[in-house]
Amino acid sequence: MRIYDLPSWGALSTLLLLAPSPSSAFYFPGMAPTSYKEGDKVPMYVNHLTPADSSVDRKLRSVFSFDYYHPPFHFCQPEGGPKYIRESLGSILFGDRIQTSPFVLHMGKNESCKAMCKEQTFSPRDAVFVNSRIYQGYDLNWLIDGLPAAQLLKDPDSDKEFYSPGFALGSVADNQPILNNHYDIVIDYHEAGKNNFRVVGVLVDPYSIKGSKFVDIDKGECPGLESGGGTTPLTLSEEKDTGVTYTYSVYWRLSPTPFATRWDKYLHVYDPKIHWFSLINSAVIVTFLIGMVSTILIRTLRKDIARYNRLDQFALDDFGSTSAVEDGVQEDSGWKLVHGDVFRSPTNPLFLSIMLGNGAQLFMMAGLTIAFALLGFLSPSNRGSLATVMIIFYTVFGFIGGYVSSRLYKFFGGEKWKQNFAYTPFALPGLVFAVFFLLNLFVWARASSGAVPFSTMLVIVLIWFLISVPLSLAGSWLGFKQPAIEPPVRTNQIPRQIPPSGGYLRAFPSMALAGVLPFGAIFVELYFIMNSIWFSKVYYMFGFLFICYGLMIMTCAAVTVLMIYFLLCAENYHWQWRSFCTAGASAAYVFLAAILYWVKDLSFGSWTSGVLYLGYSALLSVLFFVLTGTIGFFASWLFVLKIYKSIKVD
Ligand SMILES: *[C@@H]1O[C@H](CO)[C@@H](O)[C@H](O)[C@H]1NC(C)=O
Repeated sequence: MRIYDLPSWGALSTLLLLAPSPSSAFYFPGMAPTSYKEGDKVPMYVNHLTPADSSVDRKLRSVFSFDYYHPPFHFCQPEGGPKYIRESLGSILFGDRIQTSPFVLHMGKNESCKAMCKEQTFSPRDAVFVNSRIYQGYDLNWLIDGLPAAQLLKDPDSDKEFYSPGFALGSVADNQPILNNHYDIVIDYHEAGKNNFRVVGVLVDPYSIKGSKFVDIDKGECPGLESGGGTTPLTLSEEKDTGVTYTYSVYWRLSPTPFATRWDKYLHVYDPKIHWFSLINSAVIVTFLIGMVSTILIRTLRKDIARYNRLDQFALDDFGSTSAVEDGVQEDSGWKLVHGDVFRSPTNPLFLSIMLGNGAQLFMMAGLTIAFALLGFLSPSNRGSLATVMIIFYTVFGFIGGYVSSRLYKFFGGEKWKQNFAYTPFALPGLVFAVFFLLNLFVWARASSGAVPFSTMLVIVLIWFLISVPLSLAGSWLGFKQPAIEPPVRTNQIPRQIPPSGGYLRAFPSMALAGVLPFGAIFVELYFIMNSIWFSKVYYMFGFLFICYGLMIMTCAAVTVLMIYFLLCAENYHWQWRSFCTAGASAAYVFLAAILYWVKDLSFGSWTSGVLYLGYSALLSVLFFVLTGTIGFFASWLFVLKIYKSIKVD
């Protein structure tokens, strides 16, 4: 199943989009290889401990990550204390806390059973903490030359071996948590030239060995291990103190894998067939739907327009014959009747224009980020680059947000300009920041390392105020200076009565009906994205995501236009908010999917984990609401402008 790997997908995208393949022989910034001579020191860093699926039932039990040097773990520290490694903003926001470690690795030099520090004493309190982390299935995350230390796993379906980043803190045997205190580090290295080596893979095999007396630090031996694993596993007593010695061995293995493809074995897809099939399935359904919608619309619309214009002609030609005119008027029904109201300002135009401005900003950010990732600019070895690029794009597109917001506000005939200018850059970012800040308090209260440091918060606020807000104001000013977009038909003085409509045209059923389709286009990728967020996995299927994003846009547009057409035919001209909410309703399904995901794959041990999960899911859904709502509105707007332009109104 080679096609699901990154290089093949890269080749496919090369064919499709003439994009450079990520595995081609030139490197993007941050991806350039580091070469070592034999015996050179290879730096090894430690990252936070992350919750993974517990070995008991494969469910995730917690969302909190912990600093590697969190005191109860008693991991050995480097001399002079650990130091933080500089990271990108996105990397910090997404939880990376990378620090130096006491491990000493020399290129090509095997080591056996080295102790990193003296015996550590676990008090009963620490033991309780560590044992419960073992039950919850926490993983250690190390980085050697930018590569995550992994466990070798085998896909039961394809029998293919792959590297799964992270390895277990401990395991549960006979209902007893055992702590891993010895690590066999196996490093694959590739000879790129004479005495020029590169790290191309890192595996760690953790062991649990009881009793420090088995470890002869001076001789560099772990007798228990070498005599064939006849060791008793180490358990931490919750009644009395336990002594633990942490040790490691290093084995360097020459590997034929070149540096350029070293990530391939890390990026493994479980069950690729289901992935493919569901993608194709939804693509077919979506294309079919769009085809249907457009043929229906084009055919009926053409008929409508021809009829309206014929009636017009008829009425003018036979001006004298009143019966013909009356016939015509009687037949004149449907969307044409509301021409004098369809461009009436919606209720609360200020709020709508602000949402649309923010939606446009999100739309541009999401599209460009995915395109960037697809072209291979955001490699997984460049940690946090995805989030960083997202933040940069979002900040810069503040300009578009302001422009769209004020342009539309002018079209709606709004007058509260000050509010429009001021609220646009603050509405959505403010909400996101407030929720983020609140949830961060929970994380912080749990002493989890996932809490975003105050300095990072400050940087975000500064970026927001110093770059995003001025850009948005500039955009708003430009939009304000532009002449208003003229509607093709005049708006009457007196609003028309709206006949009552029933069935699927009522607000709630129409949204429930329409919202499910855009959701259908993305739910496969949504599942994988959620997996990567909550199980801290690398997400890299940007080819699929790109297609899904396109399908979602088309579905949103098609289904909303169809709904708005029916609405106008029923002589209801309140299409602005309706189109926004109809497409945006798919966000409700996203939230439902998050709940289902919780039931299926998560099983939290604490209510704070639940609060965090729900909070972030709700935030994601709100963003999705604004994004899809904006797509729906713009599609309907263009549609309404177009159809009323094509009819003659006296
Ligand atoms: C290091 O250990 C590996 C794995 O046991 C072995 O293949 C390799 O030859 C050893 N290297 C040296 C220099 O002894």
